[in-house]
Parts: sequence; structure tokens; C-alpha cells
Amino acid sequence: MINLRSDTVTRPSAAMREAMANAEVGDDVWGDDPTVNQLQERCKELTGKPAALFVTSGCLGNQLAIKSHTNPSEEIIAEWDSHIVKYEIAGPSFISGVQVMPLKGVHGFMDPDEIAAHIRPDWYHYPKTSLVCIENTHNRAGGTVYPLDDIKQVSKVCKDNNLKLHLDGARIFNASVESGVSVKDYSTQADSITFCFSKGLGAPIGSILCGDEDFIIRAHKYRKILGGGMRQAGIIAAGALFALENNVERLKDDHKNARHFAEEISKLPYVVIDMESVQTNIVIFNTTKDASRIKEVLEGKGILLTNDGKDKMRAVFHMDVSAEQTEQAIGIFKTLKA
Ligand SMILES: Cc1ncc(COP(=O)(O)O)c(C=O)c1O
Repeated sequence: MINLRSDTVTRPSAAMREAMANAEVGDDVWGDDPTVNQLQERCKELTGKPAALFVTSGCLGNQLAIKSHTNPSEEIIAEWDSHIVKYEIAGPSFISGVQVMPLKGVHGFMDPDEIAAHIRPDWYHYPKTSLVCIENTHNRAGGTVYPLDDIKQVSKVCKDNNLKLHLDGARIFNASVESGVSVKDYSTQADSITFCFSKGLGAPIGSILCGDEDFIIRAHKYRKILGGGMRQAGIIAAGALFALENNVERLKDDHKNARHFAEEISKLPYVVIDMESVQTNIVIFNTTKDASRIKEVLEGKGILLTNDGKDKMRAVFHMDVSAEQTEQAIGIFKTLKA
């Protein structure tokens, strides 16, 4: 099977498993796991943030950030198709008691003026706007890379209006290798960042949340309340450290495969792709055929991908899909009748 469902489907390599098996461990709920501590230190260096907290998932990292930046009955601004709005099951209202003001972006990026226009005036009828969340790369927009200048403008709007800015950087390394902008340069524009080891970086579990000391003290308590404390978590932190050491630069290969795949399938009469959106490892495309039927036929031919509704499909490239398999997938696509 060529699995293009997501970059979360990768399996840890033999070398990563060895690093995990040999990890030094302790009880991380006591703060005693040396490998978790090493990972958190490394992430502080990478992001330029004073504190870091290892968490089970990107979803938990985002929700802890929202909880730690806000108070109940406030409002946060996030992009309409962002992971936080679309796939976190109304987590901001469930966990933090806040309401989301979703704004439609272009390629996933909200217009800073529109953000400014949606900050609530101070009036007793309104919730207080307290946080803006952005996503880089933007998953549902096709893995698009947030231009640093745009992030700077959003950051300025937040600073000028006393709002916090959270960066959902689940795939920040994809953004970084593609744009040449360091993870630190992205992170320092925001008050907090979360990123994932379990996506393109190829680790089996884990994400990190970084921010200032007080913010991470709050997030640590909320992680505990939500049952997110892990004991000998060094076993999984070792996979994350291995990923940071070995699997960052190779993300460019995934971007190359995604681009090639998109260019080739865009020639098919029933495929419509906005090639501007194909910037990293995700290819979102529309089809004039029934997407769920295409998915089914492709599954029968050994390709797994996802559809979103009647005519939208997504293919994601990662370390377990080689250039040869990309070629194979293109060949199979071409056998589908127009
Ligand atoms: C942009 C983005 N943020 C957050 C997440 C959540 O990560 P996790 O699946 O580790 O909870 C995802 C997962 O696909 C994502 O694409």
C-alpha cells in the first residue's frame, strides 16, 4: 500500500526504535526524566522560548495554549479552516469556555486588517478578544507556508491590541525547510508555539508546547488536569530527539514528491489543483468525479488517500513514500478513466 492519508502514518525506523529502546528514563511527572528534559531544552533552543512542555499531541498542545492564554467567556480569533476550528471538536469552548471568531483566510492566512477589524470593542455586551491563533504550514489550505512578513503584521496587530498570539506549528519544520526561515524566527513572532514530532518528522508520538515561564507553568497544571502527565516518557521523547537530529532536512524530499505528483495529476481532465497551494508535502485537489468513488477505486489499486466531501481530496507525502512510490501512484492515477 502507498499510504497518502497523512504524514502521521509513518512508522519509526529501526534506528529510531533503537534510540527509543536505549533512552535513559525517569518519572516525568516528577520532572525526573532526563530524556524528556533534554528534549524540552532542545525545543527551547530551537524556538527561542524560555520554557517548553512535552505533550502527547498537537491537539493537546493547542488546547493547553488556548486554556493558558485565556479566561472563560473571552473570544479567540482563528482561521475558518484551521485545525483548531475544524478538527479539535470545539475544544476551545469545551476546555477553555471561550468562543471562536473564525475568519476566512487566503491560502489559510488571515488578513491582518480583518483581524484588527474583528477585535471586540470594550463594551459590556461583548466578549473580550484575548488570543489570535495562526497555523503554519496550513493543513487544509494545502500545506501552505505563512510568509514571515504576514506573521509579523499579525503579531503587530496582537501587540498593538494587547492580544496573545499562538502559532500552531504542527508542521513548522516543513515551513522552515521550504522558506529558509528558522523555526526561531517564526516562533519569536508569537507568544507560544506548538509543533509535532509525529508528523513529517517521523516519530510515533509527541508534540511540544513552548512559551514563557509563567505560561508553561499554567499549561503544565492544565496538562495534569487533563490527564496528560506521562511517567517514563523518555522512551517517546528519544524518538522525538532522533527525529529532530535526523529527519528535518529530508522533508525537502517530501515536498519534491508532492510537487511532482501535483504537477502530473493536474494534467488529468478530471483533476483541478490550485498549484499555488502546493508548497510543501500536502496536495489538496478537486475532482469533477465523485471523490469517494475515486478513493475507493484507488484503494483497490493500493493507494490510500482521503476525501473531504464530494469533490475534494488530499494526498500527503512523507518519509514512508519514496520517489519511486510517488511515480507508481501517478501511474495508477493515470489509469483512472476520465
Ligand atoms: C495543523 C495541525 N495542527 C494540529 C494537529 C493535531 O495534531 P495531533 O494529531 O497530534 O493531535 C494537526 C494534525 O493533523 C494539524 O494538522
